Amino acid sequence: MNKDVVCIGAGYIGGPTMAVIAKMNPDRKIMVVDINASRIAAWNSDDFELPIYEPELVDVVREVRGKNLFFSTDIRSAVKECDIVFVGVNTPTKMFGRGAGRASDLQYWEATAREIKEYADGDKIVVEKSTLPVRTAAAMEAILNDHAKHRFTVLSNPEFLAEGTAVKDLLSPDRVLIGGPQDEAGIAAIAEVVDIYAAWVPREKIMTTNVWSAELTKFAANAFLAQRVSSINAIAGLCEATGADVDEVARVMGADHRIGAKFLKAGPGFGGSCFKKDVLNLVYLCETFGLHTAAEYWTQVIRMNEHQQERIVSRLFKAMFNTLANKKVAMFGFAFKADTGDTRETPAGTVARLLNDEHVRLAITDPKAIPNAKRDLADIAGDGAGIVFEEDPYVAAEGADAVLLMTDWSLYPALDWRRIFDSMRKPALVFDTRNCLDGEELRRIGFKVLNIGKDICGAPTCR
Ligand code: NAD
Ligand code: UGA
Repeated sequence: MNKDVVCIGAGYIGGPTMAVIAKMNPDRKIMVVDINASRIAAWNSDDFELPIYEPELVDVVREVRGKNLFFSTDIRSAVKECDIVFVGVNTPTKMFGRGAGRASDLQYWEATAREIKEYADGDKIVVEKSTLPVRTAAAMEAILNDHAKHRFTVLSNPEFLAEGTAVKDLLSPDRVLIGGPQDEAGIAAIAEVVDIYAAWVPREKIMTTNVWSAELTKFAANAFLAQRVSSINAIAGLCEATGADVDEVARVMGADHRIGAKFLKAGPGFGGSCFKKDVLNLVYLCETFGLHTAAEYWTQVIRMNEHQQERIVSRLFKAMFNTLANKKVAMFGFAFKADTGDTRETPAGTVARLLNDEHVRLAITDPKAIPNAKRDLADIAGDGAGIVFEEDPYVAAEGADAVLLMTDWSLYPALDWRRIFDSMRKPALVFDTRNCLDGEELRRIGFKVLNIGKDICGAPTCR
């Protein structure tokens, strides 16, 4: 009989992953539990106002919730009931003590392991779904199996989905990775978890490894992706200095199948909850093992990313005659990428703070991220502060000196830019940090235009 599954942690990973597992395994009961009662209430809400925005997710949840997918705060019962326990709790960067600012904060993960041990009334397969430093499974095994009544086998099944395309990525993943101990119990446990995914993922895409390789692969994959973004952004600066066009450079480079076309889009730098956290953790791991040159190498990926946001503000400053005080900037997009309301580590947040330091009057608009933006900037956006939030981009742009496009929502290229131009103070500037607007058309309308890695607007101030 197929084993039932519980996932501890109902966030961006636990919710979508389990919803898709439930959809594709109708004969298994799938439970998702969390200590955050309001998050669980949102997953269970009658109007399907889910706690996260993710395209197509609501359709999947509608299809399976209450049939074989259940959200609850009753962690004890769920752990008792299910033989396979996924753990998808948060693993933020540790901000105190040893490894502060780099290492993963494993307190939530360890708390979960202790809960599993306490509540279990039989043997369990415990699956790391969170991104965890190499050899975390050993620590977990030590906690779980020390003087335990039952046997726990710890596997690593890192998740590679990207936000904004979570459902699509889960339904047709490039690969699924399951790492586990190479002994009899480990191999049997791996087979159980392979079965869950084999319900819809072709077997050749389900890759199994030892547990340490699985843990490290997740960090390495994110670090490589982040490094590509930093590399193309480093090239973008050079393009601006020389008259080359970064989109042309990327297009031709990407045609080389050894390089590939993905993750070569220059922009405001990478955001999201994971790239920075995971690269920092890789740095910490390298340092821990005495690999200092490797640690410096990965540190530069982060440094380059920060530099990109500083550069955006410097360029805006120069293009706006070296003073931003009391000027109005309409920030189009606050989410760290399109098709998500997630604002964790969003470049827009860093840029908003830098602009606030310059006493800019900032009007932030975003189709999905305004609630998170308000929360993120609460310390600088109180009553009487220079930051307002506006659902309607046309209203946000009224009377502005500049539109600063930070997120490549598909709605922005489709706006009536003539109407926006007419409502702005002149000279009217558009800084398109995603290179997603039609720059030629904007110039025809009368805008001054800045991009990343191309289209120096002619005036030296635009450089
Ligand atoms: P999240 O903060 O959205 O969700 C984590 C959830 O865990 C929260 O709802 C929190 O209340 C819950 N939680 C914490 N401690 C708990 C406990 N003791 N018992 C029960 N619930 C508890 O985080 P996320 O974005 O889903 O990320 C989770 C993990 O997945 C991280 O390690 C992350 O690196 C990894 N990951 C995330 C993504 C992504 O797209 N967000 C992709 C791949 C991997
Ligand atoms: C990333 C990885 O792509 C996932 O495989 C991984 O599972 C996930 O991290 C994780 O571990 O959390 P995500 O952060 O959701 O996914 O989104 P990405 O599409 O990777 O984008 C990350 C950031 O890089 C965004 O800010 C995006 O705008 C930026 N980016 C991406 C670029 O600037 N240029 C590109 O070419 C690609």
